This record gives sequence, C-alpha cells and structure tokens, in this order.
Amino acid sequence: MAADLFADAIQPRLSTHWLGRDYRFLSLTDSTNSDAIAIAKDGAPHGAVVVADHQTDGRGRLTRSWHSPAGENLYFSVVLRPPWKPSDPRPVSLAAGVALAEALAPRLQTPLLLKWPNDVLVGGKKLAGILVEGSIQGGAVDYVIVGIGLNVNTAEFPPELATIAESLGRLCGQEVDRGEVLAAVLNSLEPWLETLAEQGPEPIVAAWTKHAASLGEPVRVTEHGREYAGVMQGVDPDGALVLVGDDGKPQRIMSGDMLAT
Ligand code: BTN
Repeated sequence: MAADLFADAIQPRLSTHWLGRDYRFLSLTDSTNSDAIAIAKDGAPHGAVVVADHQTDGRGRLTRSWHSPAGENLYFSVVLRPPWKPSDPRPVSLAAGVALAEALAPRLQTPLLLKWPNDVLVGGKKLAGILVEGSIQGGAVDYVIVGIGLNVNTAEFPPELATIAESLGRLCGQEVDRGEVLAAVLNSLEPWLETLAEQGPEPIVAAWTKHAASLGEPVRVTEHGREYAGVMQGVDPDGALVLVGDDGKPQRIMSGDMLAT
C-alpha cells in the first residue's frame, strides 16, 4: 500500500491550476519517465503527473540508474506541452531545480545547493535529481517530460551510494510525509513554469543562481570524455554552464558533470 501517494491524498493539497489535475498513481513501474512519455504520446494534457511507489528501472542522466525502492521515496514525472521557444528544454530543468529548492529548503537546517545541471545537494550529497526528456515535432516542442527522483525516507543507501546520497528523513531525524512533500514540490513548480512561459528563462536563472553550488569557485567539468577546468561564473539563460579559464575567456558548456576541485 502507498495510500499516502494516492490521488485523494495529494490533490486536496494542491494549490495548482493545471499541474497534477491529471494525476496517475502506479504502485510499480519501470520508469515514470517512460510512463509519462507513453501517456504524452497518447494525448495526456499539459501538467499530467505520473507518480510511482516503486521503479524497477528508474533512469538518471547519462544512462545512469536511479535507486527507486518501494515505499520510501518520491519518483514522479510531469508532462508539459510548452509554448516555449526555442525548443531547448534546459531552462525547464533549472525551473524544476528552483522549485525543489523552494519546497525543500524550509524543511532543512543545512543549506541546500543546486549543482549544475540539475542535482539537489545537501552537505555535498545528492538529495534529488531531475531528468528532462523531450520530443520535438516539425521544429516545435511536442512534449517535455520532467522526471524527479527525491530521496525522502531511505534510511540506508546501498554501499555504492552511501557516500554520495542523502534523504530528507535522515536530515530531519524522522520519517517525512511523502505526500506532503510531493504536494509542496508541485505547488512550487507550477508558478516557476508559468514564469518561464511568460517571462522567459532570465528570472529562473536568477533564482537558480541564488542556490548555485560552486559559484565563483574552481571546478572541473567532464563532457563526452573531454575535461574543462575554470572558475564557475554562472549559468546562461539557455542553461549552459559558464566557466572562466586561466586565459580569462568565458567558456560555455552545454552538458556534462561538474566536480568541485
Ligand atoms: C539524475 O540525477 O541523474 C536524474 C534522476 C531522475 C530520476 C527520476 S525518478 C522519476 C523519473 N523516472 C525516471 O526513470 N527517472 C526520473
């Protein structure tokens, strides 16, 4: 049972107009991102949400997997049919990071940081991750899927994650209500997505930057086997990371993994 994630537990807590109004709960699935892609292809509306109690094949960025045991955490994906142009969905990922920061930071004693491109970190460990996938048809965005994995109540991570993953429950010293956290994230996400649609990415980037990890610090970034080093200057409106190297020239990096040096 995962009654805490059923629609009748979540929807009364939503202050949203369109996000989560179509809400689908699955007790078991391979990946809510795959489910969201399937329902998007089938005509699901803007703002439809798929939530699972347990994923057997949760996906992360760069072909990684996402630890998704039953009954502990949040695994959910949102279908968006955005009017945004250009078709690059990167600012959507930044908006999701800002929404997570806004919903989670007030629950924590320790600062929460957003690590480019889309990790939510507390105490240097990963609390949540975001996987944005999209489909472009004839040059326009058909749908964008925003998948979020948020470690809520995992008490002990498997050995390979023990030093790099964190959960809200461990940070708060007690079990946390998943349904309450899910509603808080969705309630925060809708206004940021509306801001993105109405005002473009600049306000999102400004909000994201307030929580940015390693800002002004030396970092290394690996991208497709290449490595870049420099001082992290920030993020451009299209979501590219801006590094300044020894030659003083800004360099834009579109994807990769950022490591503090
Ligand atoms: C990352 O940090 O690499 C992104 C992780 C995203 C995981 C979530 S869990 C819900 C949704 N379904 C998936 O298969 N992946 C995302």
